[in-house]
Amino acid sequence: MKLFSAALLAAASLPFAASLAPIVRKGAYLFDSSTGDRFYLKGLAYAANYGSGQTTPAGEVSQVDPLANGAGCARDIPYFKQLDVNILRVYQVNSSLDHSSCMNALEEAGIYVLVDLATQVEAISGSSPAWNLELLTQYINTIEVFGDYTNVFGFNIGNEVISSLPDDQAAPYIKAAVRDVKAFMSAHNYSQLVGYTATDSPNSRITLPYYLACGEDSSAIFDYWGLNIYEWCGTSDFQTSGYQARTQELADLGIPAFFSEYGCNSVEPRPFQDVPVLYSSDMSNVWSGGIIYEYIEQSNAYGLVNISSDGSSVSTLTDFNNLKSQYTTATGSSLASASYTPSISLPDSCPSSNSSWPVATALPPTPNSGLCDCIASQLTCISTYSLNDASQIGTAIGTICGTSTSACSAISGNGTTGSYGELSMCNPLQQLNIAMEIYYNSQGRASDACQWSFATLASSASVSGTAQFASATSSCVSADAFASSTGIPTATTTLAGVSTHPLVSGAASSGSKSASSGGAVRLIASDAPASALLATVLLGVVGGFMAVFL
Ligand SMILES: *[C@@H]1O[C@H](CO)[C@@H](O)[C@H](O)[C@H]1NC(C)=O
Ligand SMILES: *[C@@H]1O[C@H](CO)[C@@H](O)[C@H](O)[C@H]1NC(C)=O
Ligand SMILES: *[C@@H]1O[C@H](CO)[C@@H](O)[C@H](O)[C@H]1NC(C)=O
Ligand SMILES: *[C@@H]1O[C@H](CO)[C@@H](O)[C@H](O)[C@H]1NC(C)=O
Ligand SMILES: *[C@@H]1O[C@H](CO)[C@@H](O)[C@H](O)[C@H]1NC(C)=O
Repeated sequence: MKLFSAALLAAASLPFAASLAPIVRKGAYLFDSSTGDRFYLKGLAYAANYGSGQTTPAGEVSQVDPLANGAGCARDIPYFKQLDVNILRVYQVNSSLDHSSCMNALEEAGIYVLVDLATQVEAISGSSPAWNLELLTQYINTIEVFGDYTNVFGFNIGNEVISSLPDDQAAPYIKAAVRDVKAFMSAHNYSQLVGYTATDSPNSRITLPYYLACGEDSSAIFDYWGLNIYEWCGTSDFQTSGYQARTQELADLGIPAFFSEYGCNSVEPRPFQDVPVLYSSDMSNVWSGGIIYEYIEQSNAYGLVNISSDGSSVSTLTDFNNLKSQYTTATGSSLASASYTPSISLPDSCPSSNSSWPVATALPPTPNSGLCDCIASQLTCISTYSLNDASQIGTAIGTICGTSTSACSAISGNGTTGSYGELSMCNPLQQLNIAMEIYYNSQGRASDACQWSFATLASSASVSGTAQFASATSSCVSADAFASSTGIPTATTTLAGVSTHPLVSGAASSGSKSASSGGAVRLIASDAPASALLATVLLGVVGGFMAVFL
C-alpha cells in the first residue's frame, strides 16, 4: 500500500481527537480511568521501523527509536487499525529526539504505548547489577519526554534482566528501580504504570513476581508483571501448552499480568490459536491480554509485515492475516472498576532466600546526587577519565578493588547478601574516584598511593589530610539533609542532566506521609547512617566494612 492511503488521510484529518485516558491499576486488573472498564492489552511489539536499505539522516533520527520516525508511524497506523491493536510495545527510545508526530498520530488512532526505559547501553544487568545515578538519570530523562503524553500506558523498568539462577542477584536492583521511579513519578504527578517484563525462566517466573509484590508500602509496588512467553507453538491447548500452569502460578499475585511478548514461530505460518484462549475465562482471571511479537519482519522471522527497503511501503505476510482474524474477534469479559473489589492482599513477607533463590529482601540505596556530588568534590586522588569512558572506568574499578577490597566496600553491592555500600548508587566515575581516595587515605595519603596510570592529584583539592577529609565528608552527609530521625532528605536535590524536575520535590518529602510508612517517599533507602560511620568507611580504615541497609 502506498504511504498516503485514503484511510490515512481520513485519520490524519480528524481534528481534536479525544485524548486517551490513563490506564490505572486496581488490585489484579487494569482499568480505563475514564470509562471504568477493565482494560485488556491487544498489542504488538514495534521495533526498527526504518526500511533495511533506508538511510537515516545522520544525527536526526535513531535507528533504534521507532517513535522518532513520524513517516514510519503514519505508514504503519492503518495496519494497526486493521489488526484492532490498542497498544504498542517499544523497546528502546532516545529521549533527545522528537516523538510528537508518532505519539500524536497514535493517540488519534486510539493506541497506547509501553515504553522501555533501558537501552542497549544503559540497563540493569543480570550478571553485574547496579542501580545508580547514571541509570536513574537516563530513566528520568525518558519519563520527562514521554510522561506528558496521555497515551503512554507505562514505563518498563527492565526487560529479561534475569534469565538464570546467577542473575537472581539482580532482583533487589529491579525492585529498587521500581521504588525510585515511582517516587519520582508520584512527586511530579506522572500517572503512568511502572512494571517489569520477564523471561519465562523456570528459576524466577514464580519467585520474582511475588518478590516484586511483597513487603512494602503499596505505593512502591510494581503495577504490572509482563511475561515474555513462547510456550504455545502451532496447534496446542490451554493445558498442554503450559499456559494453564503459568496461570495457576500467578493466581495469588494480586498484580496485573500480561504476556509482554508471545507468538511462538517454530510452526509457520503462525495460526495464533492461543489468542482467543488468552482472553477467555480460563486465563482472564489472571491475565490482562498480551503483546504479539512482532510487527516488522526481521531476521528472526517473527514479523507480520515486510517493510520495503526505502521504508515507504508495507506488504503484509500470512501471519498478518492470521493474527487479524484472531485479534478482531478477541475480547476479554467486561468488568466495571466500581463493581470490582480486589480479593488478594499483597504478601507482607517475601519469598525466602535459599540456594535456588539467593536473593536478599534488603534493597540498594536510592541514588542521591547531592551526596555523591558533595563527596566527589572533596576528593584529592582522582581519575583522568570522563563519564563516557565506561569500559576504562570498569577496568580501573577492577584494578582498585583487586588491590584492596576495603577500598571498594563503600561502592560495592551484593543482592544475595543484601549488603550495599552507601555510595554504590553514585555514578561509575564517582565510584572509581571514591575508591581511589579511600585507598589513598588508607595508605596515609602517601603520593605513591595515587600513582595508577589513570590517576592524578586534583590541583584544586582543598583537603589535605585524613581528619580534614573525614570532616568534609561528614558535612556532605548532613548538608544533603539526611534527616537523622527519618532518613528522608528535604527538598530540591537536582540530578545532573535533568533540567526540569528536581529528584526530590517538596511535595514528596514534606507531605503527610511519615517515614514509618516506608514507601514511595522514602527516598533514602536506609535509616540515616551516622555520618561519622560513613566518614570512617571513606577513610578506608575499617577493612571490609559494608553498610547494611534495611
Ligand atoms: C540520540 O539522539 C541524539 C540526537 O540525534 C544523538 O546525538 C545520539 O547519538 C542518540 N543516542 C543514541 C543512543 O542513539
Ligand atoms: C501535583 O499535583 C498537585 C495537586 O494537583 C499540585 O498541587 C502539585 O503542584 C503538582 N506537582 C507538580 C510537580 O506538578
Ligand atoms: C518479505 O521479505 C522477504 C525477505 O526480503 C522475502 O523473502 C519475502 O518474499 C517478502 N514477502 C513478501 C510477501 O513481500
Ligand atoms: C527457595 O525459596 C523459594 C521462595 O521462597 C521457594 O519457592 C523454593 O521452593 C525454595 N527452594 C528450596 C530448594 O528450598
Ligand atoms: C555476594 O555474596 C555471596 C555470598 O557471600 C557470594 O557468594 C557472591 O560471590 C557475592 N557476589 C558478588 C557479586 O560479590
